[in-house]
Amino acid sequence: MGIDRRAFVGKLSATGAAVAGAATGVLPTAGAGLATESAASRQQADAVGVDAFAFDAYGTLFDVFSVTALCEELFPGNGDALAQRWRAKQLQYSLLRSLMGRHRDFWLVTEDALVYAARSLELDLTDARRTRLMDAYLSLDAFPDVRPGLEALRARGVRLAILSNGEPRMLEAAARSAGIDTLLDTIISVEEVKIFKVSPRVYNLGSERLGVGRSTLGFVSSNAWDIAGAASAGLTTFWIQRSAAEPPEELGFAADRVVSAIDELPGLLGTAG
Ligand code: LAC
Repeated sequence: MGIDRRAFVGKLSATGAAVAGAATGVLPTAGAGLATESAASRQQADAVGVDAFAFDAYGTLFDVFSVTALCEELFPGNGDALAQRWRAKQLQYSLLRSLMGRHRDFWLVTEDALVYAARSLELDLTDARRTRLMDAYLSLDAFPDVRPGLEALRARGVRLAILSNGEPRMLEAAARSAGIDTLLDTIISVEEVKIFKVSPRVYNLGSERLGVGRSTLGFVSSNAWDIAGAASAGLTTFWIQRSAAEPPEELGFAADRVVSAIDELPGLLGTAG
């Protein structure tokens, strides 16, 4: 796998600079180094050749911590802790269920995680509060770079999809609420394969459903563990490193490109697209 990966990454870059950058996490971002002709041609040579982009949903397009205000309103003094534990438990349950071979859709996993998180903080999660918090998951805020980034990519003619652990209806509701549903060609949910990321079956599903090879599917996520999973499965990966303080995962698969926001992606496509 490691040898295949190196051969594949090598194809991305005529100069090798992107490969070295990917290994260190220090990469030219869109617009960087365009001041001279040689830098401009290098940027062109490094332009990524992807046929479609698939985006992770939660944490990448939708801010899962936009529920924090409601958590705080319902449980004063515990909003931040509840939101943090809720998300952490949601991810842990998705991984545990995949290992156990006991799939349950992400809406139900999210609700189980909320119940656990509230109990662990000794909070009284009444049915009414549980309903309000779960409903908030259907209208999470999109990060500010999402809409302009998707619009610019769409203007370049690149197909755009969501590839997420989310259950289809919760993804559709969140995309509609954020006003990005019309910018997406399709929404792909793990419900089609009944196992969560980071199973390679999920990333393969993205490539199959979009009808593109794994190496020409650009996978975009701000979750570093998700990037490692997608890179391991052979996708071309774009890590949205929302916090400069966040290190990459130590899982042996670095992102092909690292940017700080989605609206930097169009600049990586080169000028020909
Ligand atoms: C997603 C979560 C895991 O797949 O971020 O959307």
